[in-house]
Amino acid sequence: MKKSKTKPWHVNLLTLFPEMFPGSLGQSLSGKALGKDVWSYECINIRDFAGGVHKCVDDTPFGGGAGMVMRPDVIEKALLSIKQPGRKIYMSPRGKPLNQALIEDLATTPTLTILCGRYEGVDQRLLDAHNFEEISIGDYVLSGGEPAAIILMDACIRLLDGVMGNKATPDEESFSNGLLEYPHYTRPAQWTDANGQLRTIPEVLISGHHKNIESWRLEQSEILTRERRYDLWKKHMKNRQ
Ligand code: ADE
Repeated sequence: MKKSKTKPWHVNLLTLFPEMFPGSLGQSLSGKALGKDVWSYECINIRDFAGGVHKCVDDTPFGGGAGMVMRPDVIEKALLSIKQPGRKIYMSPRGKPLNQALIEDLATTPTLTILCGRYEGVDQRLLDAHNFEEISIGDYVLSGGEPAAIILMDACIRLLDGVMGNKATPDEESFSNGLLEYPHYTRPAQWTDANGQLRTIPEVLISGHHKNIESWRLEQSEILTRERRYDLWKKHMKNRQ
């Protein structure tokens, strides 16, 4: 992943709502990393490139139907104002699903330009003309691409060098080995919940026997994945053959 001493991992954001950034990315580990120039961002306000007194960025769809569509000419002007756009991404529920493998790929791409749509979306010709890669964060519809861009960036930023320190355990966390993560426990070892039920922790975790702990964790990961995500489990079994 990228070194903090070299150029920061950079994201250009084409948006109608620049105030939405850095949002949650300005807090906690990603916020500290932003301060240390591990990553950087620039918002390009699409409205600044609209003409006329009304600064119109959208119009009604050809063929009729509800909602408004963002104009290709205005977005293109905004895009062309970016000196080094790098990899161009359009956040859209129609895009390819975002997963950990794609996040790892994006986190090692030095510069991204993310187009955040609003309304019914953007004119298809703009996406075709500039080869935008469409990415979806899940099978649901947000009111715009900005929260989706923040999610994508958050998942990338935590992988950059110097962000997580020794907190990063990439081999064991969910998805990195194709399985969901095993359960975690901390003190107190004996805890009585609000209903008066005593809850203990699995004995093996205080056995000091590292091999046994490792196999218990793997077993738990496998059980959880089989129960909750049969799609991932099938892939895991296929890879093991
Ligand atoms: N914009 C609106 N919904 C979205 C989604 N599910 N993923 C990415 N961008 C979006």
